[in-house]
Amino acid sequence: ATAVSNADIAALIADVPDFPKPGVTFKDITPLLSSPEGFAATVAALAASAPSGIDVVCGMEARGFIFGAPVALALGAAFVPVRKPGKLPREVVETTYDLEYGTETLAVHADAITPGARVLIVDDVLATGGTVAATADLVRRLGGSLVSVSVVLELAFLGPRAVLAGHGIDAVTALV
Ligand code: PRP
Repeated sequence: ATAVSNADIAALIADVPDFPKPGVTFKDITPLLSSPEGFAATVAALAASAPSGIDVVCGMEARGFIFGAPVALALGAAFVPVRKPGKLPREVVETTYDLEYGTETLAVHADAITPGARVLIVDDVLATGGTVAATADLVRRLGGSLVSVSVVLELAFLGPRAVLAGHGIDAVTALV
């Protein structure tokens, strides 16, 4: 088998200028998803970066689902979807936050995390850090213990680690 490097993974993420609005460069992961070898290597790298003893993987709608669910399976952990508002059918805890472009609300089922559970957050892109910070807030409010954060691509030049100070962060690839 041919080894897939982190640089190969980075090369499968395409830049789309001026999407969803002028001045924003969208990071398009669909070429990575179209590569079975690249996708598998990415999930393996995310799972390998996780601390041991993860009970719950939280993935954020929508692209966090794509990576979070297979990482949860790889770790033998539960998968908890963190969703946009109005999607989850039972009692939820919600938080609203600023995104790189606009504002967003995220929700999680109130009983999704057992107090004390060891939680890993997985997403595709870490940009401003707002989405992860909001998810960390939900995890904390449900009594979970956020152990670490694993992302495919960190836009380090946007400074997300300052927003997420105190949290462990692993990125498969990063742009400085
Ligand atoms: C994107 C991306 C991350 C978030 C990163 O999601 O998938 O979840 O933005 O940005 P931040 O670090 O500045 O918060 P988006 O809101 O576009 O939702 P989608 O996955 O449903 O497309």
